[in-house]
Amino acid sequence: MTKLDIIVDLQYGDSGKGKVAHFLCNKKKYTHVIRYNGGGNAGHTIFHKGVKFVTHQVPVGVFFGIPSIIGSGCALDPETFFEELKELETGGVKTRGKIFIAINAHVVTAAHKEEDNKDTKVGTTKRGMGPAYRAKYGRTGLRADSVPELKPYLIDLYEEFQVKNENAVVLAEGAQGFGLDIDWGDYPFVTSSHCTAAGALLNGFPPQSVRDIWGVAKAYETYVGLKDFEPKNEPIFEKIRELGQEFGATTGRPRQCNWLNLELLEKAARMNGVNKLVINKIDVLNRAGAWKIIDGKKIVEFKGPEPMKAYIRKRLAKSGLTSKNIFFSESAETV
Ligand code: IMP
Ligand code: MG
Repeated sequence: MTKLDIIVDLQYGDSGKGKVAHFLCNKKKYTHVIRYNGGGNAGHTIFHKGVKFVTHQVPVGVFFGIPSIIGSGCALDPETFFEELKELETGGVKTRGKIFIAINAHVVTAAHKEEDNKDTKVGTTKRGMGPAYRAKYGRTGLRADSVPELKPYLIDLYEEFQVKNENAVVLAEGAQGFGLDIDWGDYPFVTSSHCTAAGALLNGFPPQSVRDIWGVAKAYETYVGLKDFEPKNEPIFEKIRELGQEFGATTGRPRQCNWLNLELLEKAARMNGVNKLVINKIDVLNRAGAWKIIDGKKIVEFKGPEPMKAYIRKRLAKSGLTSKNIFFSESAETV
């Protein structure tokens, strides 16, 4: 049976899934990589052989020549898809014969983007997500197989994973995060797709195929959108934003910052069935010289990174995440 590893963001996106995907592709032998939700709203910053790339729709497998699929849970914008292919090729990444699109993935149209451009409520990325998924569920949407230019890329996920390659080993890359999930995020300040580990299964993978679920978080939190998120009059968050380069990879908007909310992290880890956890960018707190966590109603302050890590490890042990399955990591640039 096909084996599946899932990468899921436990916060509000931008926690470093791209980096974890890049690491896993380099280390493990995947036959396929699939993006399981979202579309042009995502922005994965990837450092490949020292060169910075920002991908939106194309999965990270392409950097390693692994067949990379835009899954059935995605809403694909053909226009920016072709631009992205061009950028990758210009950067020296071979995409020919490596990129596939599920026949039943949905398509974002110019009208969807135009409508999304008028959003003033959620602070969307204006990439047409809400209207495209609304069309999908309203049964008026367009699927990838109805767009002639996409024909050369089409793939049937059932044929690929249940018939042709029964021994496939697949990495499923999520977009956005648990806090932006349509069902479990802070509605209505959410995206329109299924960002959870369950969202990966919706791409036609039976639950029994799951092997590892890699949860990804940051040592602090960021959120982009119109709700109030960052505590007011606390210059430390301005500092963290600068040090962590917390500006949207897709829209360039400054990300609002706050301390890591451990209760929410624990909830996200449990609900996604995370068995491996990566906490990124701890070096940003080191450079800011401040280590704090929100735990329930209180803010816990630490004297340095080690006591903070110990606190997190101890707290998450209750959710079955043992120390050896929690990894702390630094910003991509410093690796
Ligand atoms: P939409 O997905 O463009 O509809 O935007 C809905 C909300 O999700 C907004 O608050 C966006 O800023 C946020 N969002 C969407 N995609 C991402 C992402 O990849 N990273 C961070 N936030 C995102
Ligand atoms: Mg991002």
